Amino acid sequence: MKIKSAEFLISNTDYKSCPQDGKPEYAFIGRSNVGKSSLINMLTNRKGLALTSSTPGKTMLINHFLINDEWYLVDLPGYGYARRGKEGRETLRVIIEDYVLERIEMTALFVLVDSRHTPQAIDLEFMEWLGENAIPFSIVFTKGDKQSASKLALNVSKYKEEMLKSWEELPPMFVTSAETGRGREEVLEYIEGINKRL
Ligand code: GTP
Ligand code: MG
Repeated sequence: MKIKSAEFLISNTDYKSCPQDGKPEYAFIGRSNVGKSSLINMLTNRKGLALTSSTPGKTMLINHFLINDEWYLVDLPGYGYARRGKEGRETLRVIIEDYVLERIEMTALFVLVDSRHTPQAIDLEFMEWLGENAIPFSIVFTKGDKQSASKLALNVSKYKEEMLKSWEELPPMFVTSAETGRGREEVLEYIEGINKRL
């Protein structure tokens, strides 16, 4: 899919204030610092469109980016950022959970996990919660450039193994790198396929 235009539209703390034009949206969720904002920049090929930082807790709001005037990419705050304190974490949890549960326009949800790590409880628990609430999702392994091909393959297979302990079927999975652009075509084709079926 060709990205002809990509523009930041609006930030919100509440799904109720998000755009009401009914366009489909594709949201990115995951642990703080996993690379959600960087992935949006990579997919759109626009550095600096979504704000990124090496320090976790950069994205604090629901951010809508209008793509090709037809659909949205949505950058969400990360979960599990410890240094923000209990209250701050709770505020973000409510923003994220309300969005995921209530936002009808959310056409697909991508859960990002860091490909350098073996399966982490916080991510598995989040996916369990999605399952309990009947929210379908895909998994995007991020930072694929940061380790060897063999380590990457090992971590992905460990993830599959772990998930099959509690899931009958595996979700769609993508390996990406915001550095090299790996996975860009695959994710965009997946989105395009869904857009065509709507
Ligand atoms: P929050 O908004 O804090 O939840 O974080 P985020 O998930 O949006 O992460 P962000 O995109 O800001 O990236 C965090 C850090 O990881 C930044 O320093 C990025 O440059 C780096 N990063 C993200 N993706 C990649 C990647 O694919 N490869 C490499 N090498 N670095 C990455
Ligand atoms: Mg971010």
